[in-house]
Amino acid sequence: MKTVAPIFLSLSVALAAARAQQPDIVVADFEAETYGAWKTTGTAFGRGPARGALPGQMAVEGFAGRGLVNSFLGGDKATGTLTSPEFTIERKFLSFLIGGGGFAGKTCVNLVVSGKIVRIATGPNTEPGGSERLEPSGWDVSELTGKSAHLVVVDDATGGWGHLNLDQIMQADTAPPMAVKIAKGVSREVVAEKRWLHFPVKTGAMKRVVTVSVDGKTERRFDIELADAEPDWWAPLDVSAWAGKTLTISVNQLPENSTALSSIKQADGMIGAENLYHEALRPQLQFSAKRGWVNDPNGLVFFNGEYHLFFQHNPYGWSWGNMHWGHAVSRDLVHWEEIGEALYPDDMGPMFSGSAVVDEQNTSGFGRDGKAPLVLIYTAAGNPTVQCLAYSLDGRTFTKFAGNPVIPQITGGNRDPKVFWHAPSKRWVLTLYVQLPDAPGAPKPNHTIHFFTSPNLRDWTLRSTTPGFFECPDFFELPVDSDAAHQKWVLTAASSEYQVGTFDGEKFTPETPKLPAQRGRGFYAAQTFSGMPDGRRVQIGWGQCPSLGMPFNQLQCFPCELSLRSTPGGPRLAWQPIAQLASLRVKSHRHEPCTLNEGGKNPLSDVHGELLEIRADFTPAPNSEVLFKVRGVEIRYDSAKQEIVIDKHRAPAPLRDGHQSVIILTDRTNFTIWASDGLTYVPFPLIANPKELVVEISVKGDAVKFSLLEAHEVKSIWP
Ligand code: FRU
Repeated sequence: MKTVAPIFLSLSVALAAARAQQPDIVVADFEAETYGAWKTTGTAFGRGPARGALPGQMAVEGFAGRGLVNSFLGGDKATGTLTSPEFTIERKFLSFLIGGGGFAGKTCVNLVVSGKIVRIATGPNTEPGGSERLEPSGWDVSELTGKSAHLVVVDDATGGWGHLNLDQIMQADTAPPMAVKIAKGVSREVVAEKRWLHFPVKTGAMKRVVTVSVDGKTERRFDIELADAEPDWWAPLDVSAWAGKTLTISVNQLPENSTALSSIKQADGMIGAENLYHEALRPQLQFSAKRGWVNDPNGLVFFNGEYHLFFQHNPYGWSWGNMHWGHAVSRDLVHWEEIGEALYPDDMGPMFSGSAVVDEQNTSGFGRDGKAPLVLIYTAAGNPTVQCLAYSLDGRTFTKFAGNPVIPQITGGNRDPKVFWHAPSKRWVLTLYVQLPDAPGAPKPNHTIHFFTSPNLRDWTLRSTTPGFFECPDFFELPVDSDAAHQKWVLTAASSEYQVGTFDGEKFTPETPKLPAQRGRGFYAAQTFSGMPDGRRVQIGWGQCPSLGMPFNQLQCFPCELSLRSTPGGPRLAWQPIAQLASLRVKSHRHEPCTLNEGGKNPLSDVHGELLEIRADFTPAPNSEVLFKVRGVEIRYDSAKQEIVIDKHRAPAPLRDGHQSVIILTDRTNFTIWASDGLTYVPFPLIANPKELVVEISVKGDAVKFSLLEAHEVKSIWP
């Protein structure tokens, strides 16, 4: 056979392609303010293209430019049509981006030629869950070339996913990236032989709905951004409960050429174990899940010699969703071992936030053989949204109470029960966030905390309500200035704002206005431990610190010991890193008490590390500034303004008797600063340059006296 010179071959291919491929024609890109010559009926499409999501809609992604057709105007209830002017089909393919509901005839776009619908396309979603992402799609219309046609976008559906999103309609000679058909309800059977099934995930891909059923019963159901080809990471699902049984794994829909289903693997270990906890953006001093998203800490409790950290967990995705209670245990509040999901979503809904108590006197009756049960109190956030119990005798396996729910829905916005034992009245107290309907004279929105009591954790009586707090209440008593005879109650909630006051076992009486608490960013939904063996009040908050590109996301902030301290304004909350931080120190640099002048030598020039704990107590002159340059990040104390400044963010940090005390802790996705004897707490999401490993301390203005100046290189909490 003769060979053809490669140059000639590629030239002829290019020429043929050029002949076949004429420039694409934009049918509509929906970038203008109005639909132009397109005509609407009904209300769902509004007067012109939308600019992304409409009120009440999840984030809409994947459209081109700024505008798109979005028939969610007025919610799923609204209906209508949007019809294009006639145009001539001049290319082989008609392509577009499409999302929303997947109901042919109801949420669809129709191609009409000579009065007949000749092609139809729908969005991908037919079931709850899913995503508002638009995906490329289109039709081969080569047999219709030369014909006159128009498009009708239809929204004739009023229930869930009763809307359609559409954008970027083009005529082209190359097949749109779609041209793959979507197969609905695909499934695969596997015999559970290993502990884990691993699902391929591509963060940002279309969300699919996966169910795993055994003997005809759906055991697991979740949304997941399945990778159709190469995954970013693998999400594990524990199937050990069904060892030896046949699992049917079904996906609501997949492109026909997707390898998602066939690539699901079984293994006894996790995929990526060799690099676990060593990933580039893995927090090294604070807890994050091995895989997936975390938000609120839940059920913080000391039980049988272990600290338990449960947490809002999406085991199958980088973003929020599929709420489970993940579970980790620790012997020292610093080193954590993640041991698998404690609560899976069920027919009552996803598992939202809540708390845990050790029922020492077995008031609940869940105890056995003299063993006190660990009781979890959580929100099942279905419809209705209700409060439920689960219990455990070993701190490993959890049984949901057959009599759930224990508190029926008050309003749809009721959640996050926090329970404690109130010794004086010998009963349990539960605080619950409840959004009441708007009412005359009530704040809008009408956020309240409801106080309940119970003799046995099962039967609850509403005793009082307090206004003004949103989500994740916590309520506890603390001595003022460690004086056991002078106790006050603190009510706080997700934002960390709080009030100090008194409590009679039924009603909280505030003695302060609502006070600001944390002064940083991205600290939310904190909770304190119950059943602490040493009476400390230790708090962990959710740190909203993204780990972009990683198979995990967000963290649980370094635990803080809380106290109430007197200030001229009254008692105020103070935070300190728990004392166990010292156990992580590997190399300490302590500088003699000294005075630093402007332009002086850096006293901590020999420090070198990624994970650093820096402590300084100093007495600044009225106009001096102390500058800590830590891992390339500037942290300043401005004594004129009495503020800590990090990355242009300012936090009030008053001098205490002329002194300032600062602790700085560095991790891979955040820094934390404590100042003013802990009255100022500044958790701060930030990713420092991994190559910047030094500390510089300098002074501007008048000299500053340091009574303490030390830096500790600390080690990772992970093995
Ligand atoms: C706070 C919150 C809670 C809820 C949970 C759901 O971050 O919205 O109110 O229980 O997250 O993940």
